[in-house]
Amino acid sequence: MKKIVISTGGGDAPGLNAVIYAVVKSAHLRGWEVYGSRSGYKGLLELDELVSLTPEKVEDITPTGGTILGSTNKGNPFAMPVENQAGETLIRNVSERILKNFNRMGFACHIAVGGDGTLEIAHRFAQLGMPVVGVPKTIDNDLKATNLTFGFDTAVSTATGALDRLHSTAKSHDRVMVVEVMGRESGWIALNSGISGGADVILIPEIIFDIDKVCDKISDNELHGKDYAIVVVAEGAQEKECDVFCREGEVGRQEVVLGGIGEWVAQKIREKTKKDTRSLVLGHLQRGGTPTTFDRLLALRFGAAAVRLVESETFDHMVALATPDMKAVPLAEAITSRRKVNMDNDKVMTAREIGICFGD
Ligand code: F6P
Repeated sequence: MKKIVISTGGGDAPGLNAVIYAVVKSAHLRGWEVYGSRSGYKGLLELDELVSLTPEKVEDITPTGGTILGSTNKGNPFAMPVENQAGETLIRNVSERILKNFNRMGFACHIAVGGDGTLEIAHRFAQLGMPVVGVPKTIDNDLKATNLTFGFDTAVSTATGALDRLHSTAKSHDRVMVVEVMGRESGWIALNSGISGGADVILIPEIIFDIDKVCDKISDNELHGKDYAIVVVAEGAQEKECDVFCREGEVGRQEVVLGGIGEWVAQKIREKTKKDTRSLVLGHLQRGGTPTTFDRLLALRFGAAAVRLVESETFDHMVALATPDMKAVPLAEAITSRRKVNMDNDKVMTAREIGICFGD
């Protein structure tokens, strides 16, 4: 009987529980045992954080948000923040201990569900001899190796719903509403929700914007009798004279925490157009809650496909959607290729043709 272990790492995304469900059910059908490692690699580091996952334990989890295993952005085993007796936080490489525990438990494979950071760690373990299969997860949908990732559709629906609601209040007060959405290096959430939610301006990391052009668009709207405006800005968007907006770093985190661009844009619009302007950050609302039907189905398909890769011993690979099928992509390739919004993308053309400004 095979024994496998699954973990969820990085920021959570709607659909993680559906992946866990499909892995447990399809592994069980093959007569295998499944364990879950809590908080990324913590279960493999401290074995009392390992949980046995039976079909009964996952019965109702598919429609639920979050992850029953927990997740962390600070769980890189090759640079793990560990507190010493004096209360100081030190960065340690604990990968050897994880490998030892993995072998001691007699696991045949580790299914690592996560974004580029998690998949990179999985690839490093594969190079050290751990049989690994990856499942891609990012609400930003910026992994080139797969047509789509789960969580993205839910995030776009949430953001679009928010924009729909903002129209009425913006219109009542003749205001500009600036909405900051997620999207570190690519603006897919801003682009999709902005077009669908009737934004006047969409600012994304791929198009360096000029704040004066944004203000011109708002003034031009007024000249044409539209006294309110909706501006959608991705957290990683950048103005031509500024750097990206970051918050303070966190110990043990691989990536900087972005945020603040929305308020900056709102302030500039207020100053330059004299319009009443408000900003809001949608933030983790986009990551929470029940996954859409689309995301559930995709996540279930990823989970089942991952177990197929374990069965065929296609290790150091990640499952990927190559519509309408699933395929296996080497992790080394998956972690190096990002899908950015390209300027000749049909969505960008559509946005421009319906009068949306990108600030360029
Ligand atoms: O990478 C996904 C993401 O949701 C980003 O869009 C965002 O910047 C970050 O995670 C937020 O991370 P945290 O959950 O640590 O605040």
